[in-house]
Amino acid sequence: MSAAARPSLRKRLLALLLVPVVAIIVGASFVAYSVALGYSDRAQDQDLREDVQAMGKMLQRSLRPGESLPDQARFLIQYQPDGMNFYSVRSERHGAVYGPSQHIPEGPRTGTLQAPALYDTRVEGVAVRAAAVAMPSVRDPSDRVLLTLAEPLSDRPARARQILMIILPILVAVVALLLGAMWWAVSVGLRVLDPLTRRLASRGDELRPVTALDVPTEILPLSQTIDDLLARLRDGKQLQERFIADAAHQLRTPLAGLSLNVERATSATGAVARDAALALLPPLVARMSRSCSQLLTLSRVEAAATAPPAALPIDLARRLPEHAGDALQQAAEAGVEFGFDGPPGPCVVTCDELGLQELVANLVDNAITHAGRGGSVTLGLRRPSGGREIVLFVEDDGPGIDEALYPRLGDRFFRAPGAPPGGSGLGLAIVRRIAGQAGARVQFSQADPKGLRVEVLFPAA
Ligand SMILES: Nc1ncnc2c1ncn2[C@@H]1O[C@H](COP(=O)(O)OP(=O)(O)OP(=O)(O)O)[C@@H](O)[C@H]1O
Ligand SMILES: [Mg+2]
Repeated sequence: MSAAARPSLRKRLLALLLVPVVAIIVGASFVAYSVALGYSDRAQDQDLREDVQAMGKMLQRSLRPGESLPDQARFLIQYQPDGMNFYSVRSERHGAVYGPSQHIPEGPRTGTLQAPALYDTRVEGVAVRAAAVAMPSVRDPSDRVLLTLAEPLSDRPARARQILMIILPILVAVVALLLGAMWWAVSVGLRVLDPLTRRLASRGDELRPVTALDVPTEILPLSQTIDDLLARLRDGKQLQERFIADAAHQLRTPLAGLSLNVERATSATGAVARDAALALLPPLVARMSRSCSQLLTLSRVEAAATAPPAALPIDLARRLPEHAGDALQQAAEAGVEFGFDGPPGPCVVTCDELGLQELVANLVDNAITHAGRGGSVTLGLRRPSGGREIVLFVEDDGPGIDEALYPRLGDRFFRAPGAPPGGSGLGLAIVRRIAGQAGARVQFSQADPKGLRVEVLFPAA
């Protein structure tokens, strides 16, 4: 994978943070704008209130119908920097006293000089904020003068926007700083992995676990997965080493015999001596071939313990007679009577098919070998009533084996004293492992009246 395409934890964290951060900026801007708008509204209302009060005081005494506004008041109206656009001065008795043609609608209540009434209304289609003051005319005590000032509302958001424009860059700068701080924090935080990386890097071909107390909680699943992998590699390596040792152990003697007799045959001067040397070769080759095949089977079965093959339900009542067919031929060649004894009805267990075949072949091979010419062997199935187990058994009428040796049956290379030559001592080890993988137990007992009975007790599927 190229460096550009490799995912970066830092970039991913920041990218994930960007969405909430942008949402926070938008939200904070909205809140700032609303607050600024409220503030500007209050400030401008206050200005409007003060303006109408100032004008009111000026007009109260001087104004008569037809009179023009004092210069000072006109100045106040026309030269307002924030644009005081509308005004009207009306006497209750004499109507309009002074003012342009615009009509400012009256508000819901009339204010006084001390407390002007503020309200929203429209003048010539423009939304305005108006301040109204009603005051008695000093010149005509029976009359009242209504003074109204109004300014367009459209000016107001402008001030809020100005405030926002000041706040927004500060907000963005703070967020940028925060993201920078996060970038730094992630970089520094990731250094917590350094000891683990160093430990892994300093390994040669050691396969010890790497998980230690300094591994952070978040990384623990990863380091434990690495340890599981290392454990599997360790097992695989051990298997490999054992296989090599076993192979050397098993093949050394027949190979030495083989080379000795080949040498004898090639250097023999007479035909008799050569034939005698050559006659010793086939059993040696057969023994080597048996050892190789048993070694490979055992190593395959042991390797399967770490990654078991798919075990499927198998009906032993149907499958065993097929295996019995294979064994029949072998028994006939060995001059052994072979029988199959199975109950009616299915006997379903969970086992890998190839494993089952291997298991039966090894048990039957032992039974035929030990029964010997003229002997008999039975392969059978039993389903004890009420039991949750299905028993596969192989029984012969050979010499059997001393009960004290039962616990050793299944040890690698174990062969009882006096066992017929040619075996490698791995058959029952293979049987035990296959049975173990299927959750079954192997039991030995003495057959009636003599011989060995081997039972494999499978849990019923
Ligand atoms: N049916 C049996 N009757 C008596 N002894 C037996 C029987 N089956 C196994 N044994 C004893 O158990 C030993 C181990 O059997 P196992 O099948 O593991 O090895 P093997 O038959 O000697 O060699 P191979 O690996 O070629 O099968 C045998 O050598 C034998 O001594
Ligand atoms: Mg055997």
